[in-house]
Amino acid sequence: MVRKFYDVVQRVSVFLSKWPKIVLALLIQLLGLAILALGVFFAPYFFSPPYSSWALVLVQAVLSVLISRWIGLPVWWLVIQFLLPIGLYAGLALAFNPVWALLLFAVLWLLFRNALTERVPLYLTNSTTRQALKKLTKSLTETQEDVRFMDLGCGLGGNVVFMSQQRGVAQATGVETAPIPYALSKLYSKIGGGEIFAQDIWKTDLSEYNLVYAFLSPEPMPKLWKKVSSEMPKGSLFVTNSFAVPDIEPSDIWQLSDGRETVLYLYQI
Ligand SMILES: C[S@@+](CC[C@H](N)C(=O)[O-])C[C@H]1O[C@@H](n2cnc3c(N)ncnc32)[C@H](O)[C@@H]1O
Repeated sequence: MVRKFYDVVQRVSVFLSKWPKIVLALLIQLLGLAILALGVFFAPYFFSPPYSSWALVLVQAVLSVLISRWIGLPVWWLVIQFLLPIGLYAGLALAFNPVWALLLFAVLWLLFRNALTERVPLYLTNSTTRQALKKLTKSLTETQEDVRFMDLGCGLGGNVVFMSQQRGVAQATGVETAPIPYALSKLYSKIGGGEIFAQDIWKTDLSEYNLVYAFLSPEPMPKLWKKVSSEMPKGSLFVTNSFAVPDIEPSDIWQLSDGRETVLYLYQI
């Protein structure tokens, strides 16, 4: 009996783990609310009402965290699940104008759009890693004519501008679809050099580039490998910061000595 129950629970959590996290998080909040409502219905048999609104909100927050943990949401979602009901209630209690929340959401979306759709947020390559890219450029120019560099998801454009200023780099290009990073990187490249396009990684033709760099997340790596290995020219180099391609042996691994302990995975095509 216990075994069967455990199996059902396992199957439900495997099934749910395939849903988008944001949908799951909202459903979990609703489930937490339903359990809370049930609790409030039966509570008068044990404690006499009224109940403090803050205590109820806190119970809702804890219930949501417990269910989220059971479903297997990542740790940072547990924090969101805890803060969401508290934030909503605080907003109501303080008569917070919802237009501000909408504005905040709009800015976050314009900045981190790809965190929702591609599960790739915005974080930036540091200067130690850029120096490693410079070193790679040098070694590539020893064997090839010139470097044509592409940053897939170029963020604020720092890598593209940096690479455009290196000797032996004939072309430094980046693609970006999050609106604010795109606008800033476009402006930066106008001043500093290189070219930025408002283009999806998946629609970018890589056959022109012999050094392609990606700093994304574990999520797109298997699909990205299919793309780079079929499109990039023979002898070219694909470099991924921190997130290796699963089940593919890199040609080389560079462990950098920065605070983040950055690891670069190099794949010779
Ligand atoms: C972790 S950041 C890296 C930024 C930059 N390459 C760097 O190393 O400093 C990843 C960037 O990829 C962008 N991105 C994610 N998926 C994308 C897609 N399908 N098309 C274009 N850009 C994308 C994100 O918006 C984000 O700016």
